[in-house]
Amino acid sequence: MMASLWFCVLFWGLVAAFLVNAEMKLDCRPDYVTLVWKESRSQADTALFRLGSCFPNSFTAGEAIFSVELDDCNFRRMVTGNNLTYTNELTYSSASGSVVPPSTYPVVCRYDRPQDWYPLVYDPVFNTYGQEDLVFHMELMNDDFSGPAESTSFPLGSLIHITASVEQQNHQPLLLLLDKCIAATTPELQPDSYLYPIITNKGCLVDSKVTRSKFEPRQKTSELNLSLQAFRFAVGEAVFIHCNLVAWDPNGLDKTKKACNYVDNQGWELLDNPSYSSLCDCCESRCRSRKTRSLGSSGSHGVEQRAVLGPLTIIGLNS
Ligand SMILES: *[C@@H]1O[C@H](CO)[C@@H](O)[C@H](O)[C@H]1NC(C)=O
Ligand SMILES: *[C@@H]1O[C@H](CO)[C@@H](O)[C@H](O)[C@H]1NC(C)=O
Repeated sequence: MMASLWFCVLFWGLVAAFLVNAEMKLDCRPDYVTLVWKESRSQADTALFRLGSCFPNSFTAGEAIFSVELDDCNFRRMVTGNNLTYTNELTYSSASGSVVPPSTYPVVCRYDRPQDWYPLVYDPVFNTYGQEDLVFHMELMNDDFSGPAESTSFPLGSLIHITASVEQQNHQPLLLLLDKCIAATTPELQPDSYLYPIITNKGCLVDSKVTRSKFEPRQKTSELNLSLQAFRFAVGEAVFIHCNLVAWDPNGLDKTKKACNYVDNQGWELLDNPSYSSLCDCCESRCRSRKTRSLGSSGSHGVEQRAVLGPLTIIGLNS
């Protein structure tokens, strides 16, 4: 299925990382990855290694081997500049008190971005991204969400309306979530980018604690509208809003898959079912799910897509 996309892809041959007690060999192929972990600590149980949500394909006392497709195991796909990267983690989870402590190692496969991936030129107001049989869309809208925004300049304090959706073809019904959004002054996030957090902690609209920003009531599961109060950030400069869109099982809401608004005098509220607002309590600390939940239930549950909106401009009151 992905073969045609990968025509013009160059891939890193073999990447080997040498660690103190072990050695990781990573072979990134156009649509699958082989990872061989050689373990020298005899107490380590190689069956306990996971690559994202995947179990080893085989393991022996000193070695765990994964041979997996990039669509599986919850690899995260990201396009920056001309690079297409797939990132994941190799984790070792041991019981508390065991001799070999739990650990996590980054796994990164980098490819050249296929020319037809999505337009190199940022469209000023919308972007469409395809992944598997899903098409994600994010766009700046006018005041009543009835059509595209007429302007990309927003006076401080006015509302920026954003719609995000996923088009599902032959798919089970999906719930669209925005699990992370940050504003930046650059179309690509760099380590030193100047950032303004809007949604963090897996779906907590933190900006709603201090502004009129909110997720709008939902009409369709596959669509999520957001009204953002134009914030004091990079006033007068080009601003890009970077979001992570997640298409998820509508019955699978949990602490890491949710949309939470902060309501004045009331606290955090779960957009899709206020009676379960306790799922949003973690917005004040750190939202994590119980680890075992995601194991083995990858691809069928959800797909993530990064998207960027912009440039837009926030204009000061005196300009
Ligand atoms: C793309 O990958 C190359 C090679 O690893 C790296 O030097 C470069 O900084 C990357 N570019 C971006 C925009 O991440
Ligand atoms: C959300 O945005 C869509 C456009 O994508 C619009 O059709 C719909 O009416 C909006 N919903 C709400 C509740 O504003």
